Amino acid sequence: MDNLISLCAEADVPSDAGLRVDLPGRPSLAVFRLDDTFHVIDDTCTHGLASLCDGYVEDGTVECPLHAGKFCIKTGAAIDGPVDTPVQVYPSQVVSGRICISNE
Ligand code: FES
Repeated sequence: MDNLISLCAEADVPSDAGLRVDLPGRPSLAVFRLDDTFHVIDDTCTHGLASLCDGYVEDGTVECPLHAGKFCIKTGAAIDGPVDTPVQVYPSQVVSGRICISNE
């Protein structure tokens, strides 16, 4: 587990919204649950300074609360609205009930 960063417990992640995780020295992250799989993306919209954790989750997408830009939670792709730059996706895994990303 040395090369992993633990973000949160599985149980902390709601099914209808993202969970924002703030780590020192890194952009804020957003953890989403889709059909009991977990996905980690940058929390800040690529169009402005909105938190995607405050957005609306539907059909595997999150809609930005500020201008309704829409991103695919699995791929980070910008798929609708005024957004054209994807959000960064971080491969994650569950270790002992905690959502983790690589520390590299
Ligand atoms: Fe997200 Fe404008 S800040 S769509």
